[in-house]
Amino acid sequence: MDFAATKAMFHLPEGVIYLDGNSLGPLPKTATARVKAMMEEEWGELLIRGWNAAGWFTQPQVIGDKIARLIGAEAGSVTVGDTLSIRVFQALSSALDLAEVKDKSRKIILSDTGNFPTDLYMAQGLIDALGRGHQLQLAEPEAVEAMLDASVAILMLTEVDYRTGRKHDIGRLTRLAHDRGIITIWDLAHSAGAVPVDLAKAGADFAAGCTYKYLNGGPGAPAFLYVAPRHQRHINPILPGWMGHDRPFAFTHDYAPAKGIERMRIGTPPVIALAALEASLDIWDRVDMAALRMQSMRLTDLLVSQVARLCPLLELASPKDAAQRGSQISFRFKEGYAAIQALIARGIIGDFRAPDLMRFGVCPLYNDEADVMAAAAHIAAVINQRLWDEPKFLQKQAVT
Ligand SMILES: Cc1ncc(COP(=O)(O)O)c(C=O)c1O
Repeated sequence: MDFAATKAMFHLPEGVIYLDGNSLGPLPKTATARVKAMMEEEWGELLIRGWNAAGWFTQPQVIGDKIARLIGAEAGSVTVGDTLSIRVFQALSSALDLAEVKDKSRKIILSDTGNFPTDLYMAQGLIDALGRGHQLQLAEPEAVEAMLDASVAILMLTEVDYRTGRKHDIGRLTRLAHDRGIITIWDLAHSAGAVPVDLAKAGADFAAGCTYKYLNGGPGAPAFLYVAPRHQRHINPILPGWMGHDRPFAFTHDYAPAKGIERMRIGTPPVIALAALEASLDIWDRVDMAALRMQSMRLTDLLVSQVARLCPLLELASPKDAAQRGSQISFRFKEGYAAIQALIARGIIGDFRAPDLMRFGVCPLYNDEADVMAAAAHIAAVINQRLWDEPKFLQKQAVT
């Protein structure tokens, strides 16, 4: 793959080395023109006719199929729209229904302490709303396997830990879960566009993810939801919106779910945001995920070895073995927040996760070896010379 060519496809501000694509991917250069065209030629000229003439109505399927290729999903098994939090809620509700048909006695939703808080909050909220006696149980990531027993209805995990980058083995855990009659839900927020994922091969049941991180869809870009084709016609959506109706424009009083993944649509899709995402997915259409993964492992290894050499004060929080992690590297440092602020002031953009993690996403589409070498030198300067120790860097902002 020609990574110099893909780097040229992104707008990267002068003087910035961007290592935060694990939070928000940078702007694809074509997205600006694509959104402008959507607004002027489609919204502006077509007005309401755009739903048919510009294909706004079918965007969730069309874009869903583009994402499906990146996560090894079958065509027609992914829909796009709403937020990841909502997609987790939908997936979990459907998974609980399916589990109950098989075995009513199973009440445990098993997750891990590395899962993202919203997944856990959504699970707790759903449990309370349903009132059917489910319980959320959290294991340490390494202990999940041992807890897959006959009490567990659902295994709900984020494949790549948002803090450390530690990566679960989807294939293995899905197989073990299925052997024990457990349904799986995978949060792919830090996987889609970061590591190769093969949902169909793994036999995964449900998955969801966001498109504003590695997929570069822009701030607040819509989420995606995967439902295995074998489950689609058996699920009754917990959020039966009109766009998921079999005949939305019949405007009947009773809900009848659409066929297939379409029933997981809820309301009107975010058409402007989808235009930006589409521009980014045009780049992704040309990406070889295996080549991207090789380059990601090389670059993250380089960051780890350079920081270890130049800056022994930082403790590696990510797995040392590149195969065991996603496309980010985290370091523990007590004053990590201030250190990240000091780095941002020097043009090295990473981020901070409480209590002490400095995170750096490494994305081969627009990060290269020179970026990693320069970033490591800046990290070492900030830490070794205590350049973080200034009141302006210690002042906490709302988003870290
Ligand atoms: C793993 C994971 N799951 C869920 C979310 C929440 O997604 P959203 O805010 O789009 O609902 C995030 C956000 O960063 C995340 O990293």
